[in-house]
Amino acid sequence: ARYQVGYFIGSLSSTSVNRELSQALIRLAPGDLDFEEIPIRDLPLYSPDYDAAYPPEAVAFKDAIHRSQAILFITPEYNRSIPGALKNAIDWASRPWGQNAFDHVPTAVIGASIGDIRTALAQQSLRAVLSFCNARQMTAPEAYIKYSPELFPGDGVVTDKSTEEFLTAFMAEFREHIARVLTVLPRGA
Ligand code: FNR
Repeated sequence: ARYQVGYFIGSLSSTSVNRELSQALIRLAPGDLDFEEIPIRDLPLYSPDYDAAYPPEAVAFKDAIHRSQAILFITPEYNRSIPGALKNAIDWASRPWGQNAFDHVPTAVIGASIGDIRTALAQQSLRAVLSFCNARQMTAPEAYIKYSPELFPGDGVVTDKSTEEFLTAFMAEFREHIARVLTVLPRGA
């Protein structure tokens, strides 16, 4: 089987280190995973006023989630939590009430920062949100990545062998997680 994986980059930065990490993850992932970025940049700030008629960019955003069989979150930590843009996107996906796009969806969480906390608190915060959204989270392995330009020189290259092996194993485990969840909760894609 092939699996369609949508991924969210939690950062809107044009020089995002998490985008660098995403390129490495895609390069090291099992060959039967296909990736599509689900952009969050153009979503307005969510309001329940939109529930009656979602704007086209929000409809396209939710459609992208629905055609994905799994979602990977790659996010920085902002002030010990997740960036507002990512929370906003999740809020859009979760609504209108009864049409939560994350319901039973296999997910994984990973993040990179230049600091020593390595997005641990952002990931805990994101996991709490995804729990409420009833996503099926991969809980292990956890992955807290410390970015440096030496480690990630670009184009998905990882210069350190043990980091490369760890990221490869993380994506292999995610593939197994997706397969396990879809066995009991099939998803059209
Ligand atoms: C940060 N940064 C940061 N880092 C961290 O480890 N913990 C934190 O709580 C924060 N808080 C924070 C808030 C705001 C508003 C900014 C702009 C930055 C630093 C952050 O990890 C660094 O900017 C990364 O490069 C962000 O990831 P991207 O955007 O490069 O993917």
